[in-house]
Amino acid sequence: MNLGEPQEMQDDHAMKLGVPTKFHRKVGMTNRFAIGLVLVTLTFSLSFIALSHPEAIPARQQTVREVIPKEYLSTCHRRHEDGSLALLPEKYLTMNECKKRLPDVVVLGTKKCGTGALRVFLDTHPNVVFSKRAEAKFFTQNYKKGIDWYVQIMRPTATGQVGMEKSPGYFFSSDAAKRIKSDLPPTTKFIVILCNPVRRTISEFTFEQLNKIKEKYKVDTEEAKVIAKRTFNSSKFEKYITTSSGRIRTNVDIITHSMYDKYILSWLKLFPRSRFLFVDGDNFTHNPVAVLNEIEQFIEVPHYFNSSRFYFDKEKGFFCLSEPFKQCLRSTKGLEHPPVDRTVLRKLKELFKAHDFATSILTLKNFTWMKNDYGSKI
Ligand SMILES: *[C@@H]1O[C@H](CO)[C@@H](O)[C@H](O)[C@H]1NC(C)=O
Ligand SMILES: *[C@@H]1O[C@H](CO)[C@@H](O)[C@H](O)[C@H]1NC(C)=O
Ligand SMILES: *[C@@H]1O[C@H](CO)[C@@H](O)[C@H](O)[C@H]1NC(C)=O
Ligand SMILES: *[C@@H]1O[C@H](CO)[C@@H](O)[C@H](O)[C@H]1NC(C)=O
Repeated sequence: MNLGEPQEMQDDHAMKLGVPTKFHRKVGMTNRFAIGLVLVTLTFSLSFIALSHPEAIPARQQTVREVIPKEYLSTCHRRHEDGSLALLPEKYLTMNECKKRLPDVVVLGTKKCGTGALRVFLDTHPNVVFSKRAEAKFFTQNYKKGIDWYVQIMRPTATGQVGMEKSPGYFFSSDAAKRIKSDLPPTTKFIVILCNPVRRTISEFTFEQLNKIKEKYKVDTEEAKVIAKRTFNSSKFEKYITTSSGRIRTNVDIITHSMYDKYILSWLKLFPRSRFLFVDGDNFTHNPVAVLNEIEQFIEVPHYFNSSRFYFDKEKGFFCLSEPFKQCLRSTKGLEHPPVDRTVLRKLKELFKAHDFATSILTLKNFTWMKNDYGSKI
């Protein structure tokens, strides 16, 4: 199969140019026998004639004879065994019309709902190419660098491939929405992963605590986790999100970021809903293949993900990639949450319930956590 395309091109070419030449030459003899001979040979096999008369094949054809490995077709990269990508040699880049372009699909958010895992998994799809930087943050903090900078941090894509980038802060930023509207073509699609808002809020808090520890003690994530485990104090979280009278504070980011309806509404004022896919992040964790198939359809790439490409890691408690390389999630993930006071949890659930109702109406989707009343355990 590797040789499929070039070989077919060869035969086709030879037939088009070779056969008519032959035919005219014989007809010129004005001899019945000659005409009969042409008819007989034609009925035998067109391709046989073409191939058995090398003088009929144009010289240009010689250059097409080179064997092009299948993995060099319709792509700009090849994958090392460890999963990293390398650019193909120049001639294949030219052949496949590889170019750095604006992304076709942008993952807008949201923080702590699995955009990282989505990127890792989706990037293994042969038709999907994510930006080189894990998070471009162009339409938020890097906008001053200019659109050329944005294009430059993309990986080249071949025709037929879908270029993507994810920056989970975009979803919360009205500036990002306006800039995307003015700078990206109206064919750009958006993916937003949403997840259990109570757990998301706790996750963002924990994540920020971890970052503070990393900065304060100048340690890496693994060491920070050890320190965090020792010093995390759930009353810190409760104190942070409640007022002195015990109400949930609705003016801190980690709370407002979980009121998804508010942001969805502002995006839907600028773009039609058909350009968005709202992904159930909780479903993605438990059912990655189904969700990846849903994404494949939305971004219009061939079906690729199936259960053979994943396995469930019992120790880690989540799915890992088994093909084309083994890849589990990074170290910042899976950080344990501190136990949270039950009264505070109940207040959080009450607060988010109304917003979830609106989210469900805006997205036309019922999300996993809504059905389960946020789950028995957060
Ligand atoms: C947790 O933090 C609060 C205030 O930040 C403090 O009063 C309390 O003693 C701490 N509890 C533990 C177990 O460290
Ligand atoms: C998970 O996602 C898939 C694909 O969108 C869907 O078919 C399935 O019903 C979802 N499951 C739940 C529990 O929402
Ligand atoms: C998944 O896809 C691969 C490649 O197309 C195929 O070989 C394999 O049998 C599929 N597995 C399942 C469970 O469908
Ligand atoms: C979501 O669930 C509600 C209540 O069960 C139901 O009325 C509604 O039709 C569902 N919406 C969708 C889009 O499935």
